[in-house]
Amino acid sequence: MPPPSFGTLDQTDLTALRSICGADFVLTDSPDLAIYGADETEDLCFPPEVVVRPQTAVQVQAIMRYCSARRLPVTPRGAGTGLSGGALPVHAGVCLSLERMNKILEVDTNNLVAVVQPGVITQMLQEVVEAQGLMYPPDPASRGSCMLGGNLAECAGGPRALKYGVTKDYVLGVEAVLPNGDRIRWGGKLLKNVTGYNLAQILVGSEGTLAIVTEITLKLVPLPKHRMMVVAPFDDGEKAATALTKIFMARLTPSAAEYLEGAAVRCAEAKFGKSFPQSDADAHLLLELDGNDRTLLERDAEAVGEICLAEGARDVLLADERAKMDDLWQMRRGISEAVKSVSIYKEEDTVVPRARLPELVRIVRDICARHRLSAITYGHAGDGNLHVNILKRDLSDQEWDERLPGAITELFEKVVAMGGAISGEHGIGWVQKRYMPIALGPAELALMRGLKGAFDPDGILNPGKMFPDEAP
Ligand code: LAC
Ligand code: ZN
Repeated sequence: MPPPSFGTLDQTDLTALRSICGADFVLTDSPDLAIYGADETEDLCFPPEVVVRPQTAVQVQAIMRYCSARRLPVTPRGAGTGLSGGALPVHAGVCLSLERMNKILEVDTNNLVAVVQPGVITQMLQEVVEAQGLMYPPDPASRGSCMLGGNLAECAGGPRALKYGVTKDYVLGVEAVLPNGDRIRWGGKLLKNVTGYNLAQILVGSEGTLAIVTEITLKLVPLPKHRMMVVAPFDDGEKAATALTKIFMARLTPSAAEYLEGAAVRCAEAKFGKSFPQSDADAHLLLELDGNDRTLLERDAEAVGEICLAEGARDVLLADERAKMDDLWQMRRGISEAVKSVSIYKEEDTVVPRARLPELVRIVRDICARHRLSAITYGHAGDGNLHVNILKRDLSDQEWDERLPGAITELFEKVVAMGGAISGEHGIGWVQKRYMPIALGPAELALMRGLKGAFDPDGILNPGKMFPDEAP
């Protein structure tokens, strides 16, 4: 595919965009462009030529109609918390920020759904619905700052995916603007709907390459009355991964089961100035259980603890006080940032069938040893989703550049051979696109390109993402 050729913006374009959004909501100063040119992916920055911040779907339509006619590249953006470069404007052009479309339009407690705009912060929705006895389960680590539109674009997961599923399991309907400015709606407050192709689910995980979502109808579930945590330190990380399989076989379903390598825990301790129980362990299992019956929950938590001990945990700690649980989760959610502050790193988002997690832990350790790289791993053990952070530490740029691609390629090949995938919840975006041919064959990639062409024939929406041969 030849590199797409796009127009660059001129004064007339800026005037047109100002007349659509209002001059205050069109940014062109360099410091602003630098902020919108980066997300949480490594230290990458691709400043756009302009940032537009519309407040309504009608404005989004007008922007897209204009950019489509002018063949200007448009990169949609939520909060910029992504880890695969999905929101990076790699072809410059227009950054379309959805941050001002931040209203919870409705919480329908009779139908257990919420209707939201894409710029709502995930945790804000969670707190609003929890106050009404309901729950929006998807809980990416960045839930305090990420936005629901971005969660939909990347099909965000998080710890509670184990029991409750990921973003796709909650999206019942969407309103979206196509690259040519047309507005579409599909689905609504319906748990069942087979009216043609499921256009809502096609947009989930499409990384802002097909359409700009302007309204989302989300499923909610009743909020369990109680929760409780179990922390189990292990001297052998592989055994921590094995214990989990035994927990399921004992007919127990934790709401979260996180795997934390000791090194990850120690990074979080340093970042937050707090201590984690037995942080000198090789790895921890951090489990949470929830339910309405406190006695039953305590019994299940004890049973989980006993299984961990039988599988080699050196100890088991139960926590049910809110403050203690919040502390544990704060440290868990902060690991990604904590590791980032230790060294330049490359984060991989591997996922395998959950019972093969012990094998994956072993494979990562073996690959790193052979390629002379160090890594810190942690993630969502219950989903087989392991984040592998490969650290540059004191390697020279040359050593890093020479060793890294080979190690990642081998890791992804092994993951795919295990029936896994190269991203569980962070997406492909810009930084993983070159590895796509390891995961998908020519027929699948051609079909995906066809889908892209059907939504976006001129290729103006989030260009340069996902497809392996997309320039730059
Ligand atoms: C986490 C993010 C990085 O699990 O997915 O912390
Ligand atoms: Zn994660």
